[in-house]
Amino acid sequence: MRAAVFDRFGPPEVLEVRELPDPEPGEGQVRVRVRAAGVQPFDVYARRGEMPFLSITPPSTIGQEYSGVVDRVGPGVTNVRPGDEVLGSTMLNGQASAVVVPAENVVLKPPRLDFPTAAGLVAAGQTATGALGELAVAPDDVLLVHGAAGSVGTVAVQIARLAGATVIGTASAGNHAYLRQLGAVPVEYGPGLVANVRATGLTPTVALDAAGRGAIEASAALGIAPERIGTIVDEKAAAEHGARVVRAPRSPQRLAGVVALAEEGSLTMPIRAYPLAEVAAAHAAVESGHGRGKVVVIVEPRDLAH
Ligand SMILES: NC(=O)c1ccc[n+]([C@@H]2O[C@H](COP(=O)([O-])OP(=O)(O)OC[C@H]3O[C@@H](n4cnc5c(N)ncnc54)[C@H](OP(=O)(O)O)[C@@H]3O)[C@@H](O)[C@H]2O)c1
Repeated sequence: MRAAVFDRFGPPEVLEVRELPDPEPGEGQVRVRVRAAGVQPFDVYARRGEMPFLSITPPSTIGQEYSGVVDRVGPGVTNVRPGDEVLGSTMLNGQASAVVVPAENVVLKPPRLDFPTAAGLVAAGQTATGALGELAVAPDDVLLVHGAAGSVGTVAVQIARLAGATVIGTASAGNHAYLRQLGAVPVEYGPGLVANVRATGLTPTVALDAAGRGAIEASAALGIAPERIGTIVDEKAAAEHGARVVRAPRSPQRLAGVVALAEEGSLTMPIRAYPLAEVAAAHAAVESGHGRGKVVVIVEPRDLAH
C-alpha cells in the first residue's frame, strides 16, 4: 500500500508517500481500500510531536478518518462484506491506500454520498454534533459559533439551523457569503468581535468555540452563561471562565447520524481536495488555520462519485 509517513516530527515537508506492506485484518477486523482521507488539526499536532497524551514514535503513519471500500474481512466479522462502501474513524493511519480497523467501528456509506465528502464528515461531523448535544442547543437559542467556516464550524452551523436555532458565525470577510449560504449571520473575528456581534442586534445565548484565541472571553463579555459556553480548543480559558470543554466521544452511532443527515441532503461539506502525492500541501493548508470546509486527501481518484 501507499501511505503518508514521517520519519521525524516537523513541518509538512517531513511527510513522504511510501510503499508499505499491505496490512492484514485479524479477528473482528476489516481492511478498507481507502478512496479519500480527511486531514485535520489533530494531524498537524501529531506530525509536529505536540500531542503530550499520545505516544508517537517516528517513523509513523498518520490520519484519523477515511472512506473507502472493504476488500477483506477477518474471522468473526458479520456486519460488513468485501465490496461494502464505508467510512469511519481510525488512529494515525488513515492517509494511506489501505487501513485495517475494527469491523464494529465502520459505518456504511450511502451511494448518494461521494467518498471525499464522506471522509470529510467523519471527525467534524462527530465533533460538532457531540458539542451541540452537550450544549443542548434548542430552537429558541441564538448560537454564536467561533470559527464557523472551518470544518467543525460548517457542521455546527447547519446542525444548529436544523434544530431551529438562530446562528451567528465568526469568520474572515472572505467567508461571510459562505456563512450566509449556510444560514448564519456572519461577523468578523478579531479585536472588534464583541462589538461586531452586538451590531447584529442579536443576543447570543450559547456559544461553541472552534477557534480559541479569545473566543471564550468574548462569549463571556457578551453575557452568555459560562455553562453554555463550550470549547473544543481552549481548556485553559475554559477553566478560567467556568466554561465547558465539549468533546463528546466518537462512536459509529454518532457518525451514522451524521451520515443520515448528509444522505437526506440536510448537511453539506465543501471539500478542498489534494492528491495523496501532495499530502504535505494538504497538511500545510490545514496548518494555515484558514479556509472553508474540509481538507481531504484523494487516495484513489477513480470512482469517487459513489
Ligand atoms: N476537526 C475536529 O474534529 C476537531 C476535534 C476537536 C478539536 N478540534 C479543534 O477545533 C479547532 C477547529 O477545527 P477545524 O477542523 O474546524 O479547523 P479548520 O477547518 O482549520 O477551521 C479553522 C477556522 O478557524 C477560523 N479562524 C482562523 N483564525 C481565527 C480567529 N482568530 N478567530 C476565529 N476564527 C478563526 C478560520 O476562519 P477563516 O478561514 O475565515 O479565517 C477557519 O475557518 C482546531 O483548533 C482543532 O484543533 C477539531
